[in-house]
Amino acid sequence: MGAPEGSLAEAFAWAAPRLSGLARHPGYHPFGLPDLRAAVADRFTRRGLPTRPEQILVTAGAQQAFALVVSLLCRAGDRVVTENPTYANALDALRHARLRTGSIAVSDAGWDMDIAESTLRQTVPRMAYVIPDFQNPTGALMPPEQRLRLLATTRATGTWLVVDETIADIALDVPAPAPLASLAPRGGADHVITIGSLSKTHWGGLRVGWVRATAKMITELTAVRVSADMTGSVLDQLVALPLMEALDRSLPARLAQLRIQREALVQSLQRHTPEWSWRVPPGGLSLWVDLGEPVSSALAERAAAAGVHIGRGARFGVDPGTFEHRLRIPYTLPADRLDEGVRRLASAFHDGVPLPSAVERPHWVA
Ligand SMILES: Cc1ncc(COP(=O)(O)O)c(C=O)c1O
Repeated sequence: MGAPEGSLAEAFAWAAPRLSGLARHPGYHPFGLPDLRAAVADRFTRRGLPTRPEQILVTAGAQQAFALVVSLLCRAGDRVVTENPTYANALDALRHARLRTGSIAVSDAGWDMDIAESTLRQTVPRMAYVIPDFQNPTGALMPPEQRLRLLATTRATGTWLVVDETIADIALDVPAPAPLASLAPRGGADHVITIGSLSKTHWGGLRVGWVRATAKMITELTAVRVSADMTGSVLDQLVALPLMEALDRSLPARLAQLRIQREALVQSLQRHTPEWSWRVPPGGLSLWVDLGEPVSSALAERAAAAGVHIGRGARFGVDPGTFEHRLRIPYTLPADRLDEGVRRLASAFHDGVPLPSAVERPHWVA
């Protein structure tokens, strides 16, 4: 196929004339467009995890993938374990499902796997959710021996291990990690469910992600998805198809751009807020900045009033009121906008701007 090299506009142009052919079919593909399932499976296989199309469910992004997995596997009151801090919207999904959340501490220096293992063994959770590749929000990358321990422990405790690979391709300073499930001995990864998406390599607005699991579990997950939204959008999936097939060719340009922006953010922070500290992560899309004082929520509110919307530390904590000394600052904007954002953040931090009146409003982060 003459697949375009990663550009969204080219992918739309490629998809448009093909839509009428697909429109002869009613358009319900609850498992996902067959060609896209095959392309996702193929990429897992090339990354070292042999995968058949029947093991893939195409979803509306990784967040829907996670919500479906939670809905299928967990019941109110079940115990689940996540990293702490972790991806804010995953925590929200667990809270909405009324699950009891235990935690594994992770910092920008990595995981304490001894404590993680004993937490898993003592609490025997139904499910564990991890982001081993450039963890959101810390940017940490889990070393291979820790991945092996996690696989073995969750297998021993009968815990479903949900691996969120949404950021795995954003490998800026290291080779892209192989899928965690590929490290399991043959037949030893049936308890691992891997989720991912095109949101970080391409565009969050595309809403194309996936789940990789056993074919049996994919069938069960698909039954849950049908009860929620019947099927994914055919147009979105058609656009995603050439992007998926060209991903390895388009990635270097995306990574080069992010490296430049990461460096620009570091320089802006050094210039405007030299008293803050951070560790430059080997990949991912943000810095997990230490403010030196527990003011993150107030600062985020003040920054929002100055037009800068930023993820306060507490959004990523399992328990309320934690990580108040941290701010997650993404480097997903061009350098000049990053610098302007940091300048406004710094002035909110140093001078203070009036706190907006206390209105209840959602505080979403991606
Ligand atoms: C770790 C992680 N998981 C899931 C998501 C959600 O991704 P999607 O846009 O594919 O739903 C994100 C987005 O920021 C993320 O960082």
